[in-house]
Amino acid sequence: MPQFDDSALTTAVVNSFEESNDLRLKFLMEELVTALHGFVRRTNLSSEEWGAAIDFLTRTGQKCGPGRQEFILLSDVLGVSMLVDALNHKDRGEATQTTLLGPFYVGEHRPLPHGADISEKVEGDPMFVQCRVTDLRGKPLAGVTVDVWHADDEGFYDSQKPSYASDGPSLRARFTTDADGRLYFRTILPRNYLIPIDGPVGELILATRRYPMRPAHVHFLLNAKGFEPLVTDIFIEGDSYLDSDVVFGVKEDLISSIELRAEPTMPDGLPADGPWHLMTYDFRLKPGRGVAPKPMAPVSVDA
Ligand code: BEZ
Ligand code: FE
Repeated sequence: MPQFDDSALTTAVVNSFEESNDLRLKFLMEELVTALHGFVRRTNLSSEEWGAAIDFLTRTGQKCGPGRQEFILLSDVLGVSMLVDALNHKDRGEATQTTLLGPFYVGEHRPLPHGADISEKVEGDPMFVQCRVTDLRGKPLAGVTVDVWHADDEGFYDSQKPSYASDGPSLRARFTTDADGRLYFRTILPRNYLIPIDGPVGELILATRRYPMRPAHVHFLLNAKGFEPLVTDIFIEGDSYLDSDVVFGVKEDLISSIELRAEPTMPDGLPADGPWHLMTYDFRLKPGRGVAPKPMAPVSVDA
């Protein structure tokens, strides 16, 4: 009868993966078990604390549904999403920096023509967004699909609202760059917002006295043949939460100054209905391949 010896336990569990044919899985499991056992030992974890952790993870899973991914939110607030993103996008050189996709991407957006107003009936301060997409040498890239989405004036995405099913999308669309690599559209100025805090991740954020805010931003997902898909956010200069993004997604190169303009026409020559804001950002794509991230299904408020 073997004697139980907790000092030999980690090695025993690590050795239990010895027969695995999948060497990467074997390596990942060995490292995970070693890190997890190290955590339990270093913290002298009590049975109650481990029970609470199991309960937390159980409730995190129960909060997930077709429109809600609480585990991704957990990964985001623990900085794991940004760490994985950083490790997978090293050596960007001149290419535009990447950041989080977030849970409010709902998939291939409706294609709209340049200049379209994506705000539908949503109230807010008008904003004109103009972008150019090039390769690393500055050559314009035509035919690049660009999905854009952002929160409204009150900090909510369309997919968080009960009216989403009946009213359809707003503040999200797909544009395709023209021969000169350009795209432009009308929208409203997005606001900074609270991440969803009505679940276990929110409990954790509040229990640790963290602030659950993201600075105002517009999401972009660019896809071009022969180039790595680019997932990024463009943040609005001056936002109070740029230094304290709850999901650690801000990078300096992704902060854009938004100009307040008073000209009677917008850059496409069409009339403006009062003062408006201008966001200008140029994207540089890195040659390569890759699969664009999969979207979340539409979110309902209490999903
Ligand atoms: C977002 O930017 O949409 C987002 C990212 C991570 C967590 C919550 C929201
Ligand atoms: Fe967002």
